[in-house]
Amino acid sequence: MIAVDGPAASGKGTIATKLAALYGYPVLDSGLLYRAVGMRVLAEGGDLGDAEHATRVARTLDPASLENPEVRTRAAGEAASRVAAYTPVREALRDFQRTFAAQEPGAVIDGRDIGTVIAPQAPAKLFVTATPEVRATRRWKQLTGQGEAVSFEDILADIRIRDERDSGRSDSPMVIAPDAVLLDTTQMDIDRAFDAARRIVEAARASRP
Ligand code: DC
Repeated sequence: MIAVDGPAASGKGTIATKLAALYGYPVLDSGLLYRAVGMRVLAEGGDLGDAEHATRVARTLDPASLENPEVRTRAAGEAASRVAAYTPVREALRDFQRTFAAQEPGAVIDGRDIGTVIAPQAPAKLFVTATPEVRATRRWKQLTGQGEAVSFEDILADIRIRDERDSGRSDSPMVIAPDAVLLDTTQMDIDRAFDAARRIVEAARASRP
């Protein structure tokens, strides 16, 4: 089991996907779960401030909704961060993630609380980060590439708000696990970042009996 945590647009998703391909493991982007919950609340005409509505949606979430391209939009990221602060929403999504994490011979999950709450026993944990400006540049390129018309300044503001909300919430805040290795990708392209991640995983494995 490999846990890959970190803030929005740090590169954790790409690193997780590439590690999964290297080791032949399935990969779960746990952010998609929260994104799908947020988008369904909005689609049902609900309010993101309504914890009960979000909890109802989380308890009946259809995994097929993770495939909807809508969950990758800017609005979905914002909605996800809001509903992710509700403890009953997190509880409703916990078993699915723990079952995924327990698969043999292994699995990769990326998120915010994978190494701390979902799979604290994971033998390999990374916390991937980069400066807010570099992350905003990456996210801006991704969203404009998908055809969304957004300004860099708005994306940077989103990232700062999201960092604060995700690390400031009381349930499962985004924090680096004591046994995770910090990987700062600010100065790295994806090939270098992946190479560094692979080495961290191999070192973690070599140090375990
Ligand atoms: O990784 P992402 O940007 O797709 O995540 C969207 C939001 O979902 C993020 O701002 C906070 C929440 N999230 C979470 O609380 N815990 C996770 N394991 C993954 C995401």
